[in-house]
Amino acid sequence: MDADVTRVSILGRDSIHCGFHLIPYIAHTVLTNLPSSTYVLITDTNVASFHLQAFEKAFIDAFDTAKTPEKPRFISKVIAPGETSKSREGKADIEDFLLLNGCVRDTVVLALGGGVIGDLSGFVAATFMRGVRFCQIPTTLLAMVDSAVGGKTAIDTPHGKNLIGAFWQPEYIFIDAAFLETLPQREFSNGMAEVVKTAAIWSHDEFTILESSAEQLFAAIQSPAPCPVGRTAADRTAAQTLLLRTISASINVKAHIVTIDERETGLRNLVNFGHSIGHAIEAVLTPAVLHGECVSVGMILEAELARSRGVCGQVVIGRLARCLKAYNLPISVTDPRIARVPAVQGLGVSRLLDIMRIDKKNSGSQKKIVLLKEIGKTYELKASVVPDDAIAKVLSDAVRVVPGTPAKNVRMATPGSKSISNRALVLAALGSGTCRLKNLLHSDDTAVMMNALQELKGASFEWEDAGETLVVHGGGGSLGVPAAGKELYLGNAGTAARFLTTVCALAAANPADASLPTNITGNARMKQRPIGPLVDSLRANGCAVEYRESTGSLPLAIPAGGLAGGKIRLAASVSSQYVSSILLCAPYAKAPIVLELVGEEEGKGVISQPYIDMTIAMMETFGVSVRRLSDEKTGRLLDVYEISRGTYKNPGTYVIESDASSATYPLAVAAITGTRCTVTGIGSASLQGDARFAVEVLGRMGCTVEQTAEETTVQGPPPYDAATGEGGLRALGEIDMETMTDAFLTASVLAAVACRPAKEGLGIEGAGKEYTSRILGIANQRVKECNRIRAMMDQLAKFGIKTTELDDGLEVHGQAAPTLKEGASIHCYDDHRVAMAFSVLATTVKGTVLEEKRCVEKTWPNWWDDLQNKIGIHVEGIELDKSHDGAAASTSKDVSTAPTAPADSDATVILIGMRGSGKSHIGELAARTLGRSFLDADAHFETLHGPVRAYVAEHGWPAFRAAETKILGDLLQTHAKGHVLSLGGGIVETPEARELLVAFGGAKAGGKVVHVVREVDEVVRYLGEETARPAYGEPVTDVWKRREPWFAQCAGFEFVNYTGVLGGAAAVQDEARREKELAGEVARFFGHVAGTSVNLAQNVAKKDTRSYFLSLTYPDITPALAHMEHLVEGVDALELRVDLLRAPKDLDKPVAPGTYIPPAAYVAEQLAALRRATSLPIVFTVRTVSQGGAFPDGAEKEAFELLELAVKNGVEYVDVEITFDQQRIKELATRAHRGHSQIVASFHDWSGSMKWSEALVKDKYKVASELSDIVKIVGKANELKDNFALFEFVSRVEAQPGAKPIIAINMGAEGQLSRVLNRTLTPVTHPLLPSKAAPGQLSFAQIQQALHLAGQLPARRFFLFGTPISQSPSPTLHNTGFATLGLPHQYDLLETSDVGEQIRATLASPDFGGASVTIPHKLDVMPLLDRLTPAAEAIGAVNTIIPTSEGASGARILVGDNTDWLGMRACILEKQPSLAAPAAALVIGAGGTARAAIYALQSLGAKRIYVHNRTAAKAQALVDAFPNARVEVVERLGAWPGDAPSVIISTVPASAGAAGLPETLFDKAVARGIVVDMAYKPAETPLLALARSVASQSWATVSGVEVLLAQGYEQFERWTGRKAPKGVVQRAVLEMYNASN
Ligand SMILES: NC(=O)c1ccc[n+]([C@@H]2O[C@H](COP(=O)([O-])OP(=O)(O)OC[C@H]3O[C@@H](n4cnc5c(N)ncnc54)[C@H](O)[C@@H]3O)[C@@H](O)[C@H]2O)c1
Ligand SMILES: [Zn+2]
Repeated sequence: MDADVTRVSILGRDSIHCGFHLIPYIAHTVLTNLPSSTYVLITDTNVASFHLQAFEKAFIDAFDTAKTPEKPRFISKVIAPGETSKSREGKADIEDFLLLNGCVRDTVVLALGGGVIGDLSGFVAATFMRGVRFCQIPTTLLAMVDSAVGGKTAIDTPHGKNLIGAFWQPEYIFIDAAFLETLPQREFSNGMAEVVKTAAIWSHDEFTILESSAEQLFAAIQSPAPCPVGRTAADRTAAQTLLLRTISASINVKAHIVTIDERETGLRNLVNFGHSIGHAIEAVLTPAVLHGECVSVGMILEAELARSRGVCGQVVIGRLARCLKAYNLPISVTDPRIARVPAVQGLGVSRLLDIMRIDKKNSGSQKKIVLLKEIGKTYELKASVVPDDAIAKVLSDAVRVVPGTPAKNVRMATPGSKSISNRALVLAALGSGTCRLKNLLHSDDTAVMMNALQELKGASFEWEDAGETLVVHGGGGSLGVPAAGKELYLGNAGTAARFLTTVCALAAANPADASLPTNITGNARMKQRPIGPLVDSLRANGCAVEYRESTGSLPLAIPAGGLAGGKIRLAASVSSQYVSSILLCAPYAKAPIVLELVGEEEGKGVISQPYIDMTIAMMETFGVSVRRLSDEKTGRLLDVYEISRGTYKNPGTYVIESDASSATYPLAVAAITGTRCTVTGIGSASLQGDARFAVEVLGRMGCTVEQTAEETTVQGPPPYDAATGEGGLRALGEIDMETMTDAFLTASVLAAVACRPAKEGLGIEGAGKEYTSRILGIANQRVKECNRIRAMMDQLAKFGIKTTELDDGLEVHGQAAPTLKEGASIHCYDDHRVAMAFSVLATTVKGTVLEEKRCVEKTWPNWWDDLQNKIGIHVEGIELDKSHDGAAASTSKDVSTAPTAPADSDATVILIGMRGSGKSHIGELAARTLGRSFLDADAHFETLHGPVRAYVAEHGWPAFRAAETKILGDLLQTHAKGHVLSLGGGIVETPEARELLVAFGGAKAGGKVVHVVREVDEVVRYLGEETARPAYGEPVTDVWKRREPWFAQCAGFEFVNYTGVLGGAAAVQDEARREKELAGEVARFFGHVAGTSVNLAQNVAKKDTRSYFLSLTYPDITPALAHMEHLVEGVDALELRVDLLRAPKDLDKPVAPGTYIPPAAYVAEQLAALRRATSLPIVFTVRTVSQGGAFPDGAEKEAFELLELAVKNGVEYVDVEITFDQQRIKELATRAHRGHSQIVASFHDWSGSMKWSEALVKDKYKVASELSDIVKIVGKANELKDNFALFEFVSRVEAQPGAKPIIAINMGAEGQLSRVLNRTLTPVTHPLLPSKAAPGQLSFAQIQQALHLAGQLPARRFFLFGTPISQSPSPTLHNTGFATLGLPHQYDLLETSDVGEQIRATLASPDFGGASVTIPHKLDVMPLLDRLTPAAEAIGAVNTIIPTSEGASGARILVGDNTDWLGMRACILEKQPSLAAPAAALVIGAGGTARAAIYALQSLGAKRIYVHNRTAAKAQALVDAFPNARVEVVERLGAWPGDAPSVIISTVPASAGAAGLPETLFDKAVARGIVVDMAYKPAETPLLALARSVASQSWATVSGVEVLLAQGYEQFERWTGRKAPKGVVQRAVLEMYNASN
């Protein structure tokens, strides 16, 4: 075949063949060398769509030419793409395919695809018929350079990746780089991570090429040459050649390593560089983040680990990071591409360490990681043992500094100055001889500069001391134009571009082609930056520089030939870099240069003279002097420079001056710890202002400072000694730091521990200012990375340090170090200087945590390592509690003054809203349900300042608002916990108050701010009747319009005080009912939102229990409210299909599907109306058209507005489609969880093509389960079998630890079985609904019947034990309930006079479902039971038996309960909802029922309970049975020892007490009372009749049959786990009752 391939040898055979457009070559080679009857090509759908046909054709063509007697077969198997195919199922699928096709031992498997196909097919080949031959034909870069080479094959299991597999070497590995042309760019980068890795561990030369080749490599795949260009070496393009070279070089290394160590015993570990941590990250983030991307981050982290162990220097990390970035790879988990993946939350340090525990490289419990020593070299030729705490330190976001004494006589350099580093590189390269540059800054600028100088053959570089020293072998000014086609890429490095432009002009012509210019270019941003004035000057000096794109900017073509010299004029008002560029190169011109600088315009001078001076000074050091001319007459300096010709003479060593601001930190550590530190490379000769810090600040604080021209040494005074009271730093007094502003943060932390007075005469006047340092001249620090003055004040406050803010600075009031608060956690505002300054303080204060360690990277990336390794202060990594995220998110605004409340359910609830919206009333109700005290801020105001009206009249509105805001601030401090607080309507008018409210409602404070909303018309009506508070003086509607957005901004929640306009006239009329509904909703909303009684569906959480929701599919749900009682039968929740709602005004308009969005106000009203009718949890669903709903597909923003509304309204479940933006979903979830609501993340496939067995479903499940509390996946069944696949899928995911509940449904009639089998929140319909929400939906009752028939819901038998019981309504009650819900159970009477054999046998029978117990067995039955509930125990009687399973074995036990008290309690709360904690209550009678009555009253919180009985002794016995309650005997009804009772429960037969009842029983003064008569017959007992006649207005009545029903409902619920269908049951029971009455 006419293809040129590069062969690479592995395990002694040349089996790797690399080239371009190799398909015919592959067919030929395989057929010739691997004869077989069958060739099976395995690939995935993506690859198949591009390349399968070509393979088929190539093989068929080759068969035709083959002369074999029997033609072989070529068959192919195409599978789903993606990691999920690499599973046991995926393997079985291929094996079945092979078996079905009669494949035998001679089969050759061809794996065409990425690593997934390669690993999977390879493993199939390894085990099929005990192993068949196979070839790797990788199509991704990752597969080419990594997975296809080495013979590792594997599949994944739910326990982890690649856990099952084999070593199985392929016969051939065909690398056809042309496949990369169809590969998505992200996948290409993914592979480049491995390429970079290989070079990093093995080959410095390769790495250097990679550093500069990114553009060209991307170009090679993005603008490919047409087939078959590149098949032969002769016609390959330069880009193709580079690509092939890069790939084969990488493979070469891997092949070499594999050959030496095939089974991974040592050396082969090296290729795992970046993988130990990378894999752990990948385990958490897959599939959202790719392998190579995780490895890229892993490489940086592992290199940092090496740095922290002192194995490599920062230069290695800098180069690695820049190179990875060039290939578009992330280098940290904070990369936005990674940070927005929801699973990032799972990247905790301990989790990652845990995952790393099962790394194959580990030896025992010791972790092994490949440590990089240099680029191209590892520390050991294998992975090295690294302790866990070192890894934890690298992984953690925060550090804790451990106080201690630094090493003796610290001597160190701090990172080099950037301007000096760049100049030094050019000088040393142009100089003659070798120069060792020390302390070079490693930045993009210096990296591209070095690369370009090398390309120009102007110098060569070497690293020494692990990158601490750069050895420059200077070229003495001889440079050459690079080869044709070579471009110098300078990125966005401005200094490098300017300096190099003139340097390039010095290059000598290329011997091959003298006309070649040097081409320099940059990134898009660089191509906009100006370079015109410099180019103009060079042109004028005979160097014909050309603009290759736009005039005035890069790219440039710079011809060879050098500078002519002589007079050069340069416009220098834009950048001093032009000047330095010419100055640096001037000595190499053909004639001496006289450089004259001119302003472009009149009056615009030369900028940045200090930088020009810096260049000249450095040139001097390298042996060339520059003369600046001056006016002969005046002596004034001119902007004219004379430079003589010459060659720079490289000094043997050149130490780049340290960055002076950085130097303040190690020196400050010496000052605060009383030790000695020398910083080299910064001294009195420095031009940097911060270089004066040592003398002017540290000297003044009592340190001994010695400064030479190039070094600074500080010896701190002995630290403060508490025993003697001696030692410590002096206060600064007043100091102006204008010339060294960046150092003020360092000064502030030292001032914090200054405990000796300032030096004589420098101190600040005034009492108590002895230890004060007043730092001035730093106002500009308010607008740096953060407001640094504020930041210092807030963070110093955490140590207990007092500060005072000044216009121009701040005062720090020092304290002796031992008195500072320990354990402060410092927020660094992402500001490197804040972090480093506080780490100085942390060296003396125990337990200080710096929350964001990475922010030091800006100027001193290895600060923490240096602090530990060079200064000798131990630093440990710690993991922050993620729940305090709020702190990290806050900006430089004052954090410490924001009120903070405990972030638990105890935090105060605040109500805001328009006056007249019902805040006070709702607040009182809320306080009652939450068991808290209520406080009305208006009332509080009046107690402080008198009537509001009068106050406003006297002081005016602004004063009132100010006073109101002040009160709010105070209340938030004093009442942050345990209250319900209602605020005045106008509180949101001031920004200060709004800020307080927003902060209080934030995640950190955890308070709940609730906006109480009521229709404006209602408010107006209400306000008309009220005059107590100031009138608005403007229309209420205007006020509302202005305040509405503020209310929304301040409140995290919204309570709609729904007045029932939607519910029809009847609802509005019935005040009592409205009140009851309001109380119900207040209890639900506040209980849920505050977290005291979260209103989630209980059955969802319970194992072995099914749960259901009913989908409401109305345009307007109000007509359904009347039927609510039926609709909710059996279900656990209701779904509001918001996308189907249609506001009344829009009802008649024709609307095309998927174009209508219901108005938010209407949705809120619908929700409120539904809430009044039921407190069942609501599932709020906005289903888009493509997901089978009616909401427009393109309206994601609007959809989220509605979902937000739901969360604000305390909706329990919010359904979100996972096709929506994940970041948005994440934010919604965070908000929802704050109010204890949950997210249902759903995915629907309506096409019918989704298969539950395929990878897609697993992927969707994974995404959904990361985003949600409940997962919902809906497909469509085409045949019954599809339901089994679903069931199989569900069982598998549910078996995973920590699996979220899943709703898995198949649509359509064929899918009904899935609805029957689904366990979590099955959507059901109801016969009363207008339409089914989805095809194939069943009702609750239908599903129960189906479950029963399928053997999933066995019929149970229930009984009533007692005598006489023939008249009992219990069978009617329960059997009606069973029938209505479709339950197969039966309830019967079991009449016996004793608790004997019959009852025992019944209890023991396997189908026993439960029993009611009545007279006379309520006590006798107790010994037969395993356990009593606390209620049954307290009451001393059992009326309900519940079989249940307990313990791990699930053994059945019998529990005795008592529901009588629940029946009483339920009736009382139902009829008189606002009656809570009665001051006094009365029980008549002293038998068993009376005990239940006392228990019920106790649970209601009755303060006193009176007991009246005909025989007082019996009454006393009852009292004695409740020693812990205030129960007392009353002899005579009406003569109360205290408050008159407002609740009366009679437990005596109706005939018993009629005569003795006095009218005074019902106290007229009781505003709301209730009387319960437990006598079952007659319906109207004398007691109830009396109540009606004397107190019908204020006293409600409850009859015995009502209590019987209520306790029956409770029994029903305990037995079945479902609420009884009360309406139906009640009607049936009453019908029977009335018939017999
Ligand atoms: N065996 C080993 O030594 C080894 C080493 C590293 C990785 N791996 C394994 O490799 C797998 C990852 O491999 P991968 O990154 O190649 O992923 P992959 O196989 O999933 O391929 C990535 C994507 O690119 C598509 N694709 C492949 N070639 C294409 C082409 N030429 N044009 C267009 N699209 C194309 C695929 O269909 C897929 O969607 C993982 O399972 C990993 O465990 C194995
Ligand atoms: Zn890898």
